[in-house]
Amino acid sequence: MKKTLALALAVVMSLGLLASCGGKNPPAASQPAASQPAASQPAASIPEAPAGGGTIGICIYKFDDAFMTTYRNSLEAILKEKGYEPIVVDGNNDQAKQNEQINTFITQGVDALIINPVMTSAADQIIATVKGADIPTVLINREPTAEQMAAYEKLVYVGCDAAQSGTFQGELILDTPNKGDINGDGKVSYIMIQGDPENIDAQLRTEYSVQALKDAGIEVEQLNLTRGDWDREKGQTICANDLAQFGDKIEVVFCNNDDMAIGALQAIQSAGRKVNEDIYLVGVDALDAALNEVQAGNMTGTVLNDANGQAASAVAEMEKLLGGATYTSGNQSVYVDYVKVTPENVGDFMK
Ligand code: GAL
Repeated sequence: MKKTLALALAVVMSLGLLASCGGKNPPAASQPAASQPAASQPAASIPEAPAGGGTIGICIYKFDDAFMTTYRNSLEAILKEKGYEPIVVDGNNDQAKQNEQINTFITQGVDALIINPVMTSAADQIIATVKGADIPTVLINREPTAEQMAAYEKLVYVGCDAAQSGTFQGELILDTPNKGDINGDGKVSYIMIQGDPENIDAQLRTEYSVQALKDAGIEVEQLNLTRGDWDREKGQTICANDLAQFGDKIEVVFCNNDDMAIGALQAIQSAGRKVNEDIYLVGVDALDAALNEVQAGNMTGTVLNDANGQAASAVAEMEKLLGGATYTSGNQSVYVDYVKVTPENVGDFMK
C-alpha cells in the first residue's frame, strides 16, 4: 500500500512538473495506473520506483561548457532535493570516454541514467548499450532522431526545438529600428559564429536566424560562417578576424550561443565598435553574463535556453520511467520552450 502511494505521488509530481515546463508533444507514455493496486501489475514489467531514492548516473559531454554547467548544477540540485544520489561525470568531449563511463555506471548498478551525448552520431550505440542493460534513460541536449529513439521503450529525450531559438534571434534583429540594415544599403550583412556543427542546435540556429530575416522580405548577405564550437575564446578570435577582414561591412553578429557572443563582444569593443549603434550582436542561452550585457546595451538580445526547466523535465521523465512508463509510439521527445530576451524584458530573467 505504502509503495502504491509512493508510486502515485511520484507519477502525480512528474506530471505536474512536465505541465509547468511548457513542453510540447508530451510523449505518449503507457503509465502504470497509479490508482491500481500494485498486485494487479504484471510484476516483472514494473520496476521498483525509488520515489525519491536511488542512484542516478549523469553523463555530461564536457564540464567546460558554460550552459551545460548551469544545466548540470540544476540537475544535481533537483535530484538531491528529491532524495536521489546523483553521480555526475565529465566526458571531456570524448565519446569513447563517455562510452566507458556509461558502462561503468551500468556495472555499478545505477537506477537510471541521464546522458548528454558527446556525439549525436553515437546515439545508436548509446541506445543499444542502455537497452542491453535495461536501464531507464533520459537523453538531454543533443537530440537523436525519432527512429533512433524508437529502438528502446525506456528512453526519453528532453530538450528544446532549436529552430525556435534561431527564429527568435532573427526576430531580435527585426525588432531593431533599422531591422539590421545599419548602413542603409538595402541588405543585412552578417557573420555567423557557429557552435559544433555536428549538433542540431548549431545547424538549426544557423539556418532559422537568417530565415526569419528572409521571411520578413529582407535581403541578407553572409560575409562569413565559422565554427566556434560553443567556446568563448573561439568566439572572440573569430569575431576579431572577421572585423579585421570585413570592418564596417559587418552589421550583425549572429552567435549560436552566449558564450561565443561574450567572446565576440570583447572583439567588438577592442575594435572600437559599439553594439546597438554600429553593429548588432545576438546569442542564445541567457547566461547571467549575457543578461548583464543585454541590460547594459552591449548585446542586442539573447534567447533563454531554460536549463532549470529542462533539468526539471528530465528528472520528471526519469521518474516516470522509474515508475514503469514505457514508450511504444515513437513519440519520445519532450520540448521546453525558448523565450526571447530583449532589453525591455531582460530584468524578468535576472536573479
Ligand atoms: C546548446 C547551448 C550551447 C551548448 C550546447 C552543447 O543548447 O546553447 O551553449 O551548451 O548546447 O551541446
